[in-house]
Amino acid sequence: MRKVINLEDLRDARTALPGSIGFVPTMGFLHEGHLSLVKRACRELDSVVVSIFVNPTQFAPTDDLDAYPRDLERDIALLQEAGADLLWMPNNEVMYPPDYQTWVEVGEITKPLEGEKRPGHFRGVTTIVAKLFNAVQPQVAYFGQKDAQQVAVIRQMVRDLNMPIEIVASPIVRERDGLAMSSRNTYLNPDERQAALVLSTSIQKAKFAYDNGERDAGVLRAKMEEIINAEPLARLEYVSCADYVSLAELDIIERKTLISMAVYIGKTRLIDNLILE
Ligand code: PAF
Repeated sequence: MRKVINLEDLRDARTALPGSIGFVPTMGFLHEGHLSLVKRACRELDSVVVSIFVNPTQFAPTDDLDAYPRDLERDIALLQEAGADLLWMPNNEVMYPPDYQTWVEVGEITKPLEGEKRPGHFRGVTTIVAKLFNAVQPQVAYFGQKDAQQVAVIRQMVRDLNMPIEIVASPIVRERDGLAMSSRNTYLNPDERQAALVLSTSIQKAKFAYDNGERDAGVLRAKMEEIINAEPLARLEYVSCADYVSLAELDIIERKTLISMAVYIGKTRLIDNLILE
């Protein structure tokens, strides 16, 4: 696996790659979720590029960026083993030089859910993903379905800006007990790790109700809220039953629906979701 930092080196290395290009953008501290994307890309395309960049513009000014978990050596070993061909690790000077002044902003679909709770987050995501796409020029890009709204926002950007890139969303990878894999899980102490199961448990309860005929979105939201609020270490930020395409909150479930939530476990903010077909 070749490793590059600068844009010129990335372009040279990218040009030298044979055949179709798959791309997995990440912020590093890789887990099985990321690796499942890389392995899938390796199966489906001739060459695979991965990027690692902790993008400052998608964090809130109050977030402690320096505390974001990093382990580059381990990431490199994992990517090598997974079969990636090229790793791009740009730094802030490469992505946001001092005179930087261009932003990519998607409209309506960025407003609810994560967008409402994390103002400016999606502007940072779409800007960096557009820049990564422009540099790597992949045919296919892979994202985790855990960030369901991010996938929807990126699909919208790709459509709106006529980017010739197919966006593939891969299913959430879970720990054995159901917790969705996330780099942030490392922040949890043992009690919090146990408490974090309220996310997947409440989603499973909602799915069980849905499978047994419940179509009132308010009832599903209330069931999830009840479970989360019963956990002393959990603080609910939102639960949602929304239309899968528009992400507008639903009263009655009649079509493809996204159940999603954000919950603080102690100081750690976790998200999870499920699609009801
Ligand atoms: O999902 C992530 O890890 C990030 O939002 C992404 C897509 C790499 C952009 O920084």
